[in-house]
Amino acid sequence: MSDLVWQHLNLCASGDPDDTIVDAALAVRDGRIAWLGAARELPREYSAWPREALGGAWVTPSLVDCHTHLVYGGNRADEFALRLAGASYEEIARRGGGILSTVRATREADEDALFASAAARLEPLLAEGVGAIEIKSGYGLELNAERKMLRVARALARRYPVSIYTTFLGAHALPQEYAGRADAYIDEVCERMLPALADEGLVDAVDVFCERIGFTLAQSERVFEAAARRGLPVKMHAEQLSLAGGAALAARYRALSADHLEFLDEAGVQAMKVAGTVAVLLPGAYYFIRETQLPPIDLLRRHGVPIALATDSNPGTSPATSLLAMLNLGCTLFRLTLPEVLQGVTCHAARALGQSERHGRLAPGRPADFVVWQVGSLAELAYWIGRPLAGRVVRAGATIYRAPTAPWLRTDERAAFPEGA
Ligand code: NIG
Ligand code: FE
Repeated sequence: MSDLVWQHLNLCASGDPDDTIVDAALAVRDGRIAWLGAARELPREYSAWPREALGGAWVTPSLVDCHTHLVYGGNRADEFALRLAGASYEEIARRGGGILSTVRATREADEDALFASAAARLEPLLAEGVGAIEIKSGYGLELNAERKMLRVARALARRYPVSIYTTFLGAHALPQEYAGRADAYIDEVCERMLPALADEGLVDAVDVFCERIGFTLAQSERVFEAAARRGLPVKMHAEQLSLAGGAALAARYRALSADHLEFLDEAGVQAMKVAGTVAVLLPGAYYFIRETQLPPIDLLRRHGVPIALATDSNPGTSPATSLLAMLNLGCTLFRLTLPEVLQGVTCHAARALGQSERHGRLAPGRPADFVVWQVGSLAELAYWIGRPLAGRVVRAGATIYRAPTAPWLRTDERAAFPEGA
């Protein structure tokens, strides 16, 4: 690939808007950043390289969506209606709906159908500049169906220009065939499913839903032990609906992240700080289930725990296909600051995937994965709700997406089409 200097841009290389370069330049060779800095300081060795001017646009690293359940069958719009009529998320789950209804739909779907529905959710994220995304299993809850989900996640990575990290979430819910036998299901997860899927190269990390409608601390710990035996990093859905002590357990296992965390206490925050575990906040789920307990943002700040934000894209608690919308929700609902939400979807999100070296920051030697934004200021990234903002998405130095220009048929051209056609 040829050399190129990108210029006439404003650069936020680390995801921290307090650390920006106005009128910057980016020299890219073979898909990697050779140099970045103020344009006036561009070293002479790059001055003869071809140039591409970006008209003063803002550039950030590609975004990272570090917590999703993107692959699943069906959707739960019908349950949404039940919740509008007064039923809570937890009540619906206890009645055999919730996660288990998506399990039924996912088991019935074949790989092609799962691929097609997940692709329809992935594409809007990629058009927003997401360059790395985590996808969990957890709607199969038996070996073949979990394998099917993870294979679809890998197939998406082959088809689309995005890095996909898979997480095995076999311990997401108790499948009906194991009703009353949760420990036996955990045996199956630890002794059969995880080893088989890991051997097939389908698992990058392991997650557990530790909750009164999920799995106990002791069961979660068994899953973490099984992951440790395979050398796989762990994460946890922790303290989402109640304080169970999951985050502290996750920290003991040096978890990459503990996610949700609305009911997290100070002991859990301290444990996460010591372990370097990232707090992944999911404002879409908080909003969609109309949670009122806010995550302990001030404690996380005070103890210096890195905060990431993600879509949690899933059919039950966050049917979201926009990471930028999460910036707005994070600021509005959680009172996060602009630097917090921007780092939350770049460098801190990369860390929540154990991929700090690869994603979330632009620096010499690293891949030239960035987004050229159609905004006048970085604050606009968190300000607009639902407006496409990425003008161009660049991966390894190549433009992989350009915002469509003038896609609409003009009113005066409409006569060519019969009304109602
Ligand atoms: O991240 N909390 C558990 N898992 C998902 C929801 C799954 C579902 O309802 O389908 C979450 O919120
Ligand atoms: Fe989740």
